[in-house]
Amino acid sequence: MNKSQPLLGFGQYAVLVPLLITACAANTDPIRQQGKQLAFDRDKGNCLACHAIEDGESPGNIGPQLSDLSARFKTPQQLKQQIRDASVFNPETSMPPYGRNKILTDEELDHVVDYLWSLE
Ligand code: HEC
Repeated sequence: MNKSQPLLGFGQYAVLVPLLITACAANTDPIRQQGKQLAFDRDKGNCLACHAIEDGESPGNIGPQLSDLSARFKTPQQLKQQIRDASVFNPETSMPPYGRNKILTDEELDHVVDYLWSLE
């Protein structure tokens, strides 16, 4: 085999790149998957205790369903603020302040926000 030949030719990229884009659009992005896991995990986010979320089993109904959040919040940063400390928006809220109470780290909050922002 000719050693100077590149590992992948243009033809292979032409196939791989659209595949990658399709995979991300189908919500298999690893960061998003991590965010979903954190949100669903009973020992972590446990968001399903109060919120219905797509794919989530036996959700509670104390809070509103989490979907189409880009219509509710202007930016992902604002959504992050809601999860970090919901009392900023509603002092009487029953939602735990995930950031302030260090239930989720800043990085974990970013993953959850990335996941939620992708829900329609
Ligand atoms: C103990 C119940 C409870 C838990 C657990 C909880 N929430 Fe909430 N959440 C609420 C309530 C109640 C509201 C309604 C607004 C308010 O009262 O502050 C709310 C509001 C929200 C909103 C705003 C929705 C909207 O349309 O206005 C988002 C986003 C949200 N929660 C995300 C989360 C995420 C993400 C988690 C898990 C990491 C979570 N919540 C866990 C009770 C909860």
